[in-house]
Parts: sequence; C-alpha cells; structure tokens
Amino acid sequence: MKKFKILLLTALFLFSINLKLNAAGEQAEPIKIDWSFKGLTGKFDRSSLQRGFQVYKEVCASCHSMQYLSYRNLGEPGGPEFSEAEVKAIAASFEVSDGPDAQGEMFTRPGRPSDKFVSPYPNVKAAAAANGGAYPPDMSVLVKARKGGANYIYSVLVGYEDPPAGVTLDDGVYYNKYMIGNKIKMPNNLSDGLVEYADGTSATVDQMAKDVTTFLAWAAEPELEERHKTGIKVMIYLILLSILVYLSMKKIWSRIDSEM
Ligand code: HEC
Repeated sequence: MKKFKILLLTALFLFSINLKLNAAGEQAEPIKIDWSFKGLTGKFDRSSLQRGFQVYKEVCASCHSMQYLSYRNLGEPGGPEFSEAEVKAIAASFEVSDGPDAQGEMFTRPGRPSDKFVSPYPNVKAAAAANGGAYPPDMSVLVKARKGGANYIYSVLVGYEDPPAGVTLDDGVYYNKYMIGNKIKMPNNLSDGLVEYADGTSATVDQMAKDVTTFLAWAAEPELEERHKTGIKVMIYLILLSILVYLSMKKIWSRIDSEM
C-alpha cells in the first residue's frame, strides 16, 4: 500500500512538472530550409553571402559582435569573395581604436583589412546593460553553437508573433515560439524594405533572414566548401581503388580456378 502511495505521488509530481513546462511555452521545431550549402556538394550562394553581410553590417552589428572575423576574411575564397578594393572600402568604413601613440594617447583611425570586426560594446556587461540584461551573443560561431543551426537562426528571425491570449510579457520581452520558453529579449529587427540591396533583390523579411543566416553559416564554418571538395575527391579515390582491388582479385582467383 505504501509503495502504491509513493508511486502515485511520484506520478503526480512528474505530471505537474510537465504542466509547468507546457505553461512556459514549448519551443517549436525550427523551420526546415533547403540551404544551398547543405549536403555533400553544398556551396554557399555568393550573392546571398554578400547581401547577408550587408544585413549584418546595417542591422545586427549595432548589438552583436563577430569578434573572430577580420575584414580580409570577406575577400577570401569560399566566402562572400568581395574584391580587394571592396574589402579595403568596407574596412575603412569602420572606426578602429588603436594606440597608444608616441604621446601615450589612444586614438581612432579608419579600419584596415587586417583588423578584426569592430564590436558594438566595449565588454559583455555593457552589452547586457544596454539590452535589458540580456547579452546579445557573439555571432562568429553562433550557427554551430545552437541546436538546429542555420534553420534555428532563420526561424528565430522570422518567428515573432503576438503573444497568445493569457501570456503576458514584461517590457523589452517579445514573443517568439522558436526560443526556449517562447520569450526573447531581442526586438524584431527586420521589416520589409529595411535595407536596399545593391543587386536589386527585393529586401523582404524572409529574404534578409535567409541572407544573413547564410552569412552567419559561412562565418561559423569558412572552410565548408574546401571540406566538401576534399570529401568528393576522397570518395572518387575510394571508388577507383575499390574497382582496382576488385579487378585484381578477379584476376588472381581466375588463375586458381583454372589450376583446379
Ligand atoms: C537592438 C539590439 C539587437 C539587434 C539590432 C539584433 N539583436 Fe539579436 N539579440 C539581441 C539580444 C539582446 C539577444 C539576447 C536575447 C535573449 O537572450 O533573450 C539577441 C539574440 C539573438 C539570437 C538568439 C540567439 C540564441 O541565444 O539562441 C539570434 C539568432 C540573433 N539575436 C540574431 C540576430 C540577427 C541575425 C540580427 C540582425 C538581423 C540581430 N540579432 C540584431 C539584440 C539584438
């Protein structure tokens, strides 16, 4: 009898935990996108990478750092592949603090291709203080750091909705069903026509979300195309090797057969 009671209590307890989790809002499965960089032969879409950088620069960079990237990476093979002149112009459009100079003073100068991406805040605490206590995570490797990868990032960007009845949100908190707990302290930054793409692509929310996610996927794995190329070479090599082994086996066995 006692055992039965304990079992019943445990069941009730587990049930109540489950209820609580449901009340907090279940995180929705990320939307699945057919990315061009998916799969064994996947490649990044160059123009999407360039547009994605533009979205990062004009929208996300005011809150999110990308501290592992240098401006020259933007011109390297496998990435957005901006020309040397473009990379120089991009770097020069940022102000970098440098020094100390001969007088011991810090100073600012236009960026150079070898500089790291400029961060919007001097440190994590300043970043959190300016964003209602939530720290905008560094985006250099965010796609790799989050379960669901590119699909998850894209889903969060397009996943803003009015909260369902019964859900109240504090100031500076927004409803997004792809986040854990369905709450995010990042406002919806994207709206149709927010940026003007140089290549004439129409800047819908969906397009900007896809482009910036592609850019972030490259930043997290700049060697992806190289890795895919090597993978294919290794496969071809293995197939040829298997054929050769098969043919030589046949030859050896045919000799033994005829001796019998
Ligand atoms: C106004 C500042 C601000 C801007 C602009 C901004 N973000 Fe954020 N972002 C934040 C903050 C703050 C968080 C942390 C939210 C939280 O933890 O609740 C965040 C979180 C995120 C997350 C969720 C990461 C996670 O922890 O799972 C993603 C993805 C993201 N941002 C992408 C972007 C992209 C892409 C852009 C540009 C289109 C952008 N953000 C622009 C402030 C910003």
